[in-house]
Amino acid sequence: MEFSFNYKLLSHYNSLPENDRILVNSAFSAMERAYAPYSEFRVGASVLLGNGEIIQGNNQENLAYPSGLCAERVALFYIGANYPNEVIDTICIVAKGTLVSEELLLSPCGGCRQVMVESAMRQSTPIRVIMVNQDNRTLIVNRVEDLLPFAFSK
Ligand code: THU
Repeated sequence: MEFSFNYKLLSHYNSLPENDRILVNSAFSAMERAYAPYSEFRVGASVLLGNGEIIQGNNQENLAYPSGLCAERVALFYIGANYPNEVIDTICIVAKGTLVSEELLLSPCGGCRQVMVESAMRQSTPIRVIMVNQDNRTLIVNRVEDLLPFAFSK
């Protein structure tokens, strides 16, 4: 048995089509508003909905560390609460900080992957993920399930 998946790697997000660049810029602006005084690692997420709206999220930390939440889940749970019937087209994730070295590929934590997989399960179309590295390299996967083989799912 073998698991394989396709992904696209670009040297800079500038070469994405305009719609995707708008989404990336939205993730960057969300990132600037992150509340990350403890890790000083700022993460921004932007989600393109089927109705064309873009929803933003950023990491929200807390002095009681485990009470904080990742940017991706802030955005996805906001969508679950306010747009439960809207299709999620794409999620874009960006980050800035010394916690992760610049040349390392940024990708969402396991908990956020699990939540993204469940969001995809709730709709009949796949969720695309755009990950922009701190050095602007950009990784794209077309189905969030590709980031979480053997996900806990129904
Ligand atoms: N963080 C995210 O927001 N998304 C991820 O996928 C990984 C980590 C946040 C959590 C915490 O506020 C900070 O980054 C450092 O872990």
